[in-house]
Amino acid sequence: MSRTDSILFVTKRPDVVMEKGRGMYLWDTEGRKYLDFVGGWAVTSLGHCPDVLRNALISQSEMLVNASPAYYNVPMLTFADLLVKLSGFDKVFFTSTGAEANESAIKLARKYGTLKKNGAYEIITTINSFHGRTLAMMSATGKKQWEPLFAPKVEGFIHVPYNDIEAMKAAVTDKTCAIMFEPVQGEGGVYPATKEYQEAVRKLCDEQGILLIYDEIQTGLGRTGKLFAFEHTGVRPDIMTLAKGIGGGYPISAMLTTSELDIFEAGDQGGSYCAQALGMAVGEAVVREIAGGGWVENARTMGDYLQELLNALSKELGKAPNGKPYISGVRGLGLLVAFDLSDNFGADMVQYAMTKGLLINAPKPATIRLMPPLIVTRNDMDAMIKTLRHVLVKCSQPADATA
Ligand SMILES: Cc1ncc(COP(=O)(O)O)c(C=O)c1O
Repeated sequence: MSRTDSILFVTKRPDVVMEKGRGMYLWDTEGRKYLDFVGGWAVTSLGHCPDVLRNALISQSEMLVNASPAYYNVPMLTFADLLVKLSGFDKVFFTSTGAEANESAIKLARKYGTLKKNGAYEIITTINSFHGRTLAMMSATGKKQWEPLFAPKVEGFIHVPYNDIEAMKAAVTDKTCAIMFEPVQGEGGVYPATKEYQEAVRKLCDEQGILLIYDEIQTGLGRTGKLFAFEHTGVRPDIMTLAKGIGGGYPISAMLTTSELDIFEAGDQGGSYCAQALGMAVGEAVVREIAGGGWVENARTMGDYLQELLNALSKELGKAPNGKPYISGVRGLGLLVAFDLSDNFGADMVQYAMTKGLLINAPKPATIRLMPPLIVTRNDMDAMIKTLRHVLVKCSQPADATA
């Protein structure tokens, strides 16, 4: 019997058990230490177990954990005020996960369609997008591998190529109530939407009376070097969803919108953990620290430094044994960065890097993504690139040479 026998299989996991985290590091039960450039999947925005999060958890747990979603609670109000002030939106609805925040956005868009657009219910999303794993969000997501799964799908999602305004225009019908996309496709391999595209989609939405939804679950709260990714272009969506970084690792998410879209009726949306006091206190503390502690600026400068290091490494290493560059396509915004490999060995590289004490992620077979906490330093970057160099060269050798 193995220690993991009681865990239902949903994904392949390495044979280590994580026990402790602090700042940029994780430790497993064998005492091995890992430099974490996955950041809990872009959630540990202030690193592992930051004091600000711990203190909020401790003090709020002594006061109130969950008064029920039927009542307002104190941190719910202060956290909502903070998000409204920072984002320029008017209204916030809180949930626990990214997928739930997106579900709320879809429901709100369909409510708008019912009330204002003759029952329009279709939502246009983009190919290569990722919006979560509930049934509706698997339908919203533009991932080819998911198409045959869990039929019948939730109806009413149309997928079009990303950054292609003509395809978007062609997909709009009188049934369309909203367009939803990520300002940077994260799980899809870190591809930003161009400014021109975002502006053109905004214009299309305005002309057609369609809502624009930005899924900022991965890009929100400083990750891209701005508090929200929409600030890079100035294109404002009607609805924005946040999760991951706003809780610093604690599960909270939010949907933000305008006063005009305060159109839900009692019972349309809710849940036992919506705006529970414990999570609200954590979120408020984490967001206050990110916004006021210089971490957004750090994400910008460290993100630039990371791309500089990767480009320098690419130049230094040149071509891999198969004739393709070791590193190509360095891209991203702030601390959401990716590059392409010379072949499909991303998964092997992630595994080997772990044995060398470095955590990285491969969203696609030939792509590596780096999304460290916003507290990352130059020293962390230098240490990461040293290990990455070794791992990359080793994994780029033909199979018989590495045996
Ligand atoms: C852009 C985007 N949307 C939605 C989600 C789903 O969030 P969660 O896993 O918290 O449900 C993710 C998670 O990776 C994401 O990156």
